Amino acid sequence: MAWSPGTSNQRRAAPFGVIVANSVLGYFEPGTRPALFAAWSRLLRPGGTVILTNRFRRGARPGRVGFSPSQVDDFVAVAQREAGRWQRQLGLDPPQVAVWARTYAERFQSHPISSVDEVELGFRAAGFTLDHVEVLAVPGRPGGPVSGPSIAAAAEQLRVVATRP
Ligand SMILES: C[S@@+](CC[C@H](N)C(=O)[O-])C[C@H]1O[C@@H](n2cnc3c(N)ncnc32)[C@H](O)[C@@H]1O
Repeated sequence: MAWSPGTSNQRRAAPFGVIVANSVLGYFEPGTRPALFAAWSRLLRPGGTVILTNRFRRGARPGRVGFSPSQVDDFVAVAQREAGRWQRQLGLDPPQVAVWARTYAERFQSHPISSVDEVELGFRAAGFTLDHVEVLAVPGRPGGPVSGPSIAAAAEQLRVVATRP
């Protein structure tokens, strides 16, 4: 389904004070991000703030990131195992969960954020002022229950706080 920031009536009725965008920007191809920043600007009341965090892939080439075939298999195995462990609470059939997990992992793709400048310029072009921009290292979760293209590994993270004047 095509993404929509809402109708103009909804936007007028919902001037938000804060938008939190955690691990969302990578779902938007770079060419579509200016429209996203502009939509956030329209949705915020003056003085409203966007708090953005996202995996930062320093030096990544433009393009999509997805699960490798072995990561798909790992993810499916973990999903099935966890569905079995929580079957009484969830009431889900583990083999069915495995099918859903495979469909998800095979379809998943994101577009790496590799340029702080791109994000800063995007916010500024949409009229935001930048209060805080930071790239920091976050520890991974080795041995954790989930595997995937960005889940368990140590990584850098981009954090931005931007205000609509
Ligand atoms: C990795 S999850 C992060 C969810 C949540 N922000 C969090 O931190 O737990 C990515 C989210 O982006 C949403 N998403 C992906 N593409 C989107 C789009 N085009 N418009 C709005 N939301 C989108 C997905 O529905 C999903 O909830």
